[in-house]
Amino acid sequence: MPSDGLTRGSVPYAFSSRMMGVQSSVIRDLLRLAQRPGMISLAGGLPSPLTFDVEGLQHAADDVLVNSSSRALQYGLTDGQPALKHELARLTSSRGAAVDEHSIVVTTGSQQGIDLIARLLIDPGDVIVVERPAYLAALQTFALAQASLHTIESDASGARVEDLDALLGAIGASGKRVKLVYVVANFANPSGATLSRERRLRLLRTVVERKVFVIEDDPYGELRSFGTFVPPLIALAAEVPGAAQWCGYLSTLSKILAPGLRLGWVVLPPVMLDQAVICKQGMDLHSSTFTQEIAAKYLASGRLQARLPSIRTAYRERNEALADALDRHLGDRIAYNRPEGGMFLWARLNDAVDASEVLRHAIEEGMVFVPGSAFYADCPDASTLRLSFATALPAELDVAVQRLARALDRSVVPPRTTPG
Ligand SMILES: Cc1ncc(COP(=O)(O)O)c(C=O)c1O
Repeated sequence: MPSDGLTRGSVPYAFSSRMMGVQSSVIRDLLRLAQRPGMISLAGGLPSPLTFDVEGLQHAADDVLVNSSSRALQYGLTDGQPALKHELARLTSSRGAAVDEHSIVVTTGSQQGIDLIARLLIDPGDVIVVERPAYLAALQTFALAQASLHTIESDASGARVEDLDALLGAIGASGKRVKLVYVVANFANPSGATLSRERRLRLLRTVVERKVFVIEDDPYGELRSFGTFVPPLIALAAEVPGAAQWCGYLSTLSKILAPGLRLGWVVLPPVMLDQAVICKQGMDLHSSTFTQEIAAKYLASGRLQARLPSIRTAYRERNEALADALDRHLGDRIAYNRPEGGMFLWARLNDAVDASEVLRHAIEEGMVFVPGSAFYADCPDASTLRLSFATALPAELDVAVQRLARALDRSVVPPRTTPG
């Protein structure tokens, strides 16, 4: 067998160079463990099944099958079913960004939207700037695109965009092309942080000046528990001359309706739309017409807007329950910022404890979380961890944190006594 560095063990194929260095998602691996009886998972960002409007979706599905089956079961338009695009434009506009349905491409989850943007803009070696830490599956997608990743630190107010200009300048001076900045501005995955309005405006000014496209990924914006709404970048672009053509917006029905529908959407400047549609044709022809028609009917029924307040309440209660349990059971052994919404709390174990080591014991104690190292494009911080409060009930979150505390007890190496 030829040994060209691309063959793996006994596999007789040469995998593409794109596969080099792309790690399996530790979260997908942990999901298997989370299925074990009695295990409480704070690992995945799985929406609470209690938020699924089964009855509403059933009505919508029945209606679609009875009244528009020939459209819903047929091949469809690559940019999306018109009825759904209309509803998604309304939904996006309700978030402060008055968009036209013609600027929307429906995607197979927002994950495909991330891939689409990468395929549109990135040649191997091009630079993408991401937050530190960043969403793991975006890092995987960017690795598949063979991008070179650079990072800006994130703090309680989101990415430190004041560092971006100098970073872009330095990368430019080194001869590399910076093509994309990727940010999750609301209740980020994994950091839980929300980018302040000032930073959003500054980010827009920087990308206009440096001529770099920025994509905001916003799966969680509707799930605000505390604090005040901050408009998306595409809305704030109206305040920054030239910004409208340098930013796009991605969102999804996964976290507010159901991830099983696999429906997301991307809002792009007019000059990118034709290319985006050509690209998507080559990826999957179009997203499921069936789920698009169901989602369109569902959104038109007004049930989502009616249910959002109770969905927000459910996540706020869990958000509070997790933070309270951490204070109660771990106290000053852990540091974290309370997220203003979303599904994730990002924490750091004090005393340089390694979160992967804690995870080994946590699994035995009956809980799982994701060690933070998975979310770093560079120089992982081994003491960080991501705790999701989305899936478990408040009482279960408390039990999970008690188990985490026991796992931490077992992980901490007692100080060595020096002989003599
Ligand atoms: C930041 C972020 N972007 C994108 C996604 C992908 O969502 P989906 O493909 O289900 O729309 C997720 C899912 O957890 C996410 O956290």
